[in-house]
Amino acid sequence: MKKVLFVTSEAVPFVKTGGLADIAGALPKYYDKKKFDVRIILPRYLCISEKMREQMKFESHFYLDLGWRKQYVGILSAVYDGITYYFIDNEFYFAGMSPYNNIYEDVEKFAFFSKAVIEAMPYIDFRPDIVHCHDWQTGLVPVYLNTLYKDKAFYQNMYTVYTIHNMKFQGRWKLKAVRDITGLPESLFTPKALEAYGESNYLKGGILFSDAVTTVSETYAYEITTEGGGEGLDGVMCGCRDKLFGIVNGIDYDEYNPKTDKLIPYQFDISDFAEGKRKNKQALQRELGLAEDAGSMLIGIVSRMTEQKGFALVEYMMDSLLSDGRMQFVVLGTGEERYESMFRYFAGKYPKLISASNCYSDDLAHKIYASSDAFLMPSQFEPCGLSQLISFRYGTVPIVRETGGLKDTVIAYNEYEHSGTGFSFANYNAHEMRDTILYALNVFRNHKEEWNNMVVRGMKQDYSMYVSADKYAELYDRLYQHNFDRITTVF
Ligand code: GLC
Repeated sequence: MKKVLFVTSEAVPFVKTGGLADIAGALPKYYDKKKFDVRIILPRYLCISEKMREQMKFESHFYLDLGWRKQYVGILSAVYDGITYYFIDNEFYFAGMSPYNNIYEDVEKFAFFSKAVIEAMPYIDFRPDIVHCHDWQTGLVPVYLNTLYKDKAFYQNMYTVYTIHNMKFQGRWKLKAVRDITGLPESLFTPKALEAYGESNYLKGGILFSDAVTTVSETYAYEITTEGGGEGLDGVMCGCRDKLFGIVNGIDYDEYNPKTDKLIPYQFDISDFAEGKRKNKQALQRELGLAEDAGSMLIGIVSRMTEQKGFALVEYMMDSLLSDGRMQFVVLGTGEERYESMFRYFAGKYPKLISASNCYSDDLAHKIYASSDAFLMPSQFEPCGLSQLISFRYGTVPIVRETGGLKDTVIAYNEYEHSGTGFSFANYNAHEMRDTILYALNVFRNHKEEWNNMVVRGMKQDYSMYVSADKYAELYDRLYQHNFDRITTVF
């Protein structure tokens, strides 16, 4: 039995700002329990709901040296859905209204978290064989393990896997400040290690010091080795090609199951989706005050409201798309003010055709997936994307830009071969997006059988997390068989 510890800055059901939380929080459930004991460790933020915090029980505490500070580290635990979660407690660092604040606070917060995780291991009676870290916030874990903790007996033969969910966020801050905070040797703050473009860079550290690096789709794994997708670290990624793997995300098939979903008014499956979706759509149109029009194509958007997600294209085309009343939008998400207010503006202008909710609501999200005919994701870049996978499951046809995981998971409709699972366009261009939506609209309105066959093909896809958990398991096995060199020899 191998022990795996997921180190993450967010995980469902405790705290979530994006897709990272869905993966880090749910994936451990899907490993083969006979071969792996996977547990999760994350910060005990004060913004975790009271109800969730009440379930945590105190395990132990100690004091940690961080720079010139001596800091309290509490360790708590909770079991949820059969999975053990550990929490690092410190009210100085984790008291904010949200997990992330300013970058200069966050670099210290996550240096503390990373070091605390390493020193917490002997206290929790769970010595991991594999430490699986996620995103920039945990990039220092492999760095510490392979430097300051390298010779300590407890940490021998511990392998590190580092998963990049988004290359754009790197944890960059001033060299000297980070040197002071982390207590790492000066020799690490060079281009060979933590330095990039005159700053220290946690993501780069995580990449270089891990035994294997993964990202959440094969196309994104390729894109980050190119100038266009590498966010400045494409050279580093090219140098790490031999230990870089693309493992596509899955979704939690227990949570997202239209047959058993209690958050939607009418349950359905592949045998009665047309009827089920029609009823859900009507109910949602009524609930949100949209025109109750079955023939109008309802397009869902559930997303973080950020530039990455391609909403600049939507902004540009909204008037043109809504002008003749043949389609409707239902939008849910929070994020940058610019996009939140853009959707609110259009909802005010076309109240019967678009509804925009700037909040986070599981309830509404599930209803949108179940009720929509199509789902729009015109992302600038998309490491994997989860919404298109949820859409498949609920018989909703994705309309996506061909980038990263969207390219890997959505097969473009081909009207001659009667194949495909969605609609896609190649360039980040508003007109291309509009033409693709209009093409989908035409199939939706005038070729119903073709549309329904596409829904069925989508519903038959298997993107359950079992598939990705198996791939991670295979990667861990390879590490143990020493199929590729350990990074520690380089430094
Ligand atoms: C990030 C990416 C998204 C990915 C998710 C989970 O949020 O932007 O594409 O699906 O992480 O890996």
